[in-house]
Amino acid sequence: MRSEDTPLIRLEDYRPSDWLIDTVDLDISLHPTKTRIRSQLGLRPNPAGRPGAPLVLDGDELKLVALRLDGLLIDETAYSASPQQLTLHAPPARRFTLMIDTEVDPSANTKLMGLYLSSHVYCTQCEADGFRRISYFLDRPDVMSVYTVRLEAKKLIAPVLLSNGNLVAAGDVPGGERHFAVWHDPHPKPAYLFALVGGALDVLRQTYVTAEGRSVDLAVYVEPGKADRAGWAMDCLVRCMRWDERVFGRNYDLDVFNVVAVSDFNMGAMENKGLNIFNDKYVLADPLTATDGDYASIEAIIAHEYFHNWTGNRITCRDWFQLCLKEGLTVFRDQEFSADERSRAVKRIADVRTLRTTQFSEDAGPLAHPVRPRAYKEINNFYTPTVYEKGAEVIRMLKLLVGEAAFRAGMDLYFERCDGTAATIEDFLACFAETSGRDLTHFARWYEQAGTPTIVASGRYDAAARSYTLDLAQKTAPTPGQPEKQPVVLPVALGLVGRSGDLPLATDSPAYAGAGLIVLDQPSLSVTFSDVGEPPIPSLLRGFSAPVRLELDLADGDLLRLFSSDSDPFNRWQAWQTVAMRALVEAGREPAQLEALRATGRALAEGLSDFLRDQAPADPAFAAQVLRLPAMGDVAREIGRDVDPDAIQAAHRALSTEIGLRLGPQLLELREKLGGSAPYSPDAASAGRRALRNEALGLIALASPQEGARLCEAQFAAGDNLTDRLAALAAMTLVPGEAREALIARFAKTYAAEPLVLDKWLMAQALIPEASTLDRVRELMQHPAFSMGNPNRIRALIGGFAANLTQFNRTDGTGYAFVAEMVIALDRTNPQVASRLLSSFKSWRMLEPGRRTLAQGRLAQVAATPNLSRDVADIAERTLA
Ligand code: ARG
Ligand code: ZN
Repeated sequence: MRSEDTPLIRLEDYRPSDWLIDTVDLDISLHPTKTRIRSQLGLRPNPAGRPGAPLVLDGDELKLVALRLDGLLIDETAYSASPQQLTLHAPPARRFTLMIDTEVDPSANTKLMGLYLSSHVYCTQCEADGFRRISYFLDRPDVMSVYTVRLEAKKLIAPVLLSNGNLVAAGDVPGGERHFAVWHDPHPKPAYLFALVGGALDVLRQTYVTAEGRSVDLAVYVEPGKADRAGWAMDCLVRCMRWDERVFGRNYDLDVFNVVAVSDFNMGAMENKGLNIFNDKYVLADPLTATDGDYASIEAIIAHEYFHNWTGNRITCRDWFQLCLKEGLTVFRDQEFSADERSRAVKRIADVRTLRTTQFSEDAGPLAHPVRPRAYKEINNFYTPTVYEKGAEVIRMLKLLVGEAAFRAGMDLYFERCDGTAATIEDFLACFAETSGRDLTHFARWYEQAGTPTIVASGRYDAAARSYTLDLAQKTAPTPGQPEKQPVVLPVALGLVGRSGDLPLATDSPAYAGAGLIVLDQPSLSVTFSDVGEPPIPSLLRGFSAPVRLELDLADGDLLRLFSSDSDPFNRWQAWQTVAMRALVEAGREPAQLEALRATGRALAEGLSDFLRDQAPADPAFAAQVLRLPAMGDVAREIGRDVDPDAIQAAHRALSTEIGLRLGPQLLELREKLGGSAPYSPDAASAGRRALRNEALGLIALASPQEGARLCEAQFAAGDNLTDRLAALAAMTLVPGEAREALIARFAKTYAAEPLVLDKWLMAQALIPEASTLDRVRELMQHPAFSMGNPNRIRALIGGFAANLTQFNRTDGTGYAFVAEMVIALDRTNPQVASRLLSSFKSWRMLEPGRRTLAQGRLAQVAATPNLSRDVADIAERTLA
């Protein structure tokens, strides 16, 4: 189907289902190519639906084998069936059961939606609309049913048989070759939360007793032989279960909680009720095969999926427009969990970095959409940084605005009132309006309006009046479909920094909410603080209190003062980033400014020198974040138009090199001081020390390549953990030459049997900012470590290349051509992975004219390809619009 012919689904067209399905009884006989599914649906007319309406069930590439109504065969004229739909023209206006037999081929399912085989393991992915690839169904989240699932398979092939809920029966099938298991999930759920797993898996088990006293059997299932890599995931699971009891009062509600790791998975993980299925890269960890970053991601994602049990499963979404209801909220919850387990400031910095590079870039381009989209053609294209990360920022702002107590009370009310329902953003916000006594209508605009607002701020000190006035204004650039923007509610956390710390804040302005918070909810406003005894430096958006750009013209000297003495650690980091960003933007815009940039580098190095000596050793994780310059993509967006990626890369490299040159000896010394011989531990403090050592290594490698190469080789050889080894490889990739190629080869040899580690190896090479990288990537596609059938491999090598700012954006256009070619090829097997890859083009309009034309040409080529999937056609169309 051409994308122009694909219907646009609109929020305003929502109407309740005409039919409800109270019970689903599935009997599934697993077979690699011919899996039989018998589905018995307990149907009844929905009192809120249209009386006498036909029953229209969704399907996707399905084959109907048999159909019975209340046990009887149905006349052929009474229904029509296609691979995409099953319609009963005039169903009885009462309760009845429909028995549907379908047959599917899991081994041919390369889309990895529905039921598929992943390295000999049967598994499912049903969100958003995969269930309809298993059986005909009312595949919409507001149709919730109680499931009973009988699974049958060959014992040898699938000794483990899992589905949602609790195990109620298991045994052998007469004949001895096959066995079965019956699972029952008492909690009504939408079809997207259905799951099954069948395979030969090893397991790590643990018992957990909830605060309410329920004993729960926890299990983490992994590929045979890898159970010793499941310990960290289990540890995270236990910690996040406790945390949710303590912080949100949420207890687990089944006797079993299963986590399964599979190696072919389109996304990170999935919160199926009682049976979370994970991409194995977010489960498996040991020091030699996972980095500190992996340990942190596993912690976050295990928590995320577990937290969905309440925010997603017990309370689900009425329709897919409400996706942020569960995703934004659950990201917020997992971020808070990680913040409590680690350093809150460092976690916030890391999250804001991600927000800026992924979400701000989305919001600044053709794919911008509101946190709650109004219309879609393909919902799978809306699992975006905007829905997830900006969605979480909206919750964070809500909490800041209503305050800690009303927020917790509002969450409690939400859990109580909406439990067991398919809810909307309005239902959610109503709870907080009630507990805080506030009108949240204006706040709700965050869900409707796309684009990153900019706050323009300036301050004036009046010495005679001993007052300080802050002028704040907001503006948001147009986004697709939204030419005019309205002001939003912006919580601006602030402090006024004097010579010896924060000055007291006294004002009678109605915009001041107390406790260092201004609420900017108009186009502009001014707040005057009185009794200000000295000219202060404003520290705005403390903790990044709103997801906005800030324009505030502070002198470098003032920023450096904030860097050394702001009481808010986020803004200390931000002040430093701002100084660096200014220099990078200038040089990125005007390549002739490189000399000036070196001078800035020298000045920055001086500022850093004191910091490294006095403060870094006490908080290495924070210091590592300081040493890392703003991402090149952020610099590009800050420049905004006619972007030349090579100039940005050159500026980035020059600034890092200058800092490395100036601080060389000090960085070496710091590395010595931080380097312990203690055995690897993934805790945040140890990870922070490694992060700082490795940031230093990167700078040294740029400044003195030979010394860098020596250090990288030594670190690789001595490493007892992947973090240090991979950092050595990454630093070395910046230094062309034989030593680099030798280390690349050595790495591959060391990890030849570890696909997840080789993904990092593939990606490190795909990111090399050199002209030969495209050839290297093409060559690596022939390497045994690569496969076009596995999403992780594709994201590592091809996704890595598409994220390589200078090489994807080559002036000869071959980078675009390559990625377009891959998108078109992948679309035939896995449209979701293909459309993700295509969204790498999203920033094409900000490029200088030459590249812009080339990128546009390749996008047009993709768009004109016959028989595109809906996923890819939709992204191509919107990106070009
Ligand atoms: N709900 C899953 C999560 O926890 C992600 C599902 C993504 N699904 C998709 N079709 N892209 O975030
Ligand atoms: Zn989620």
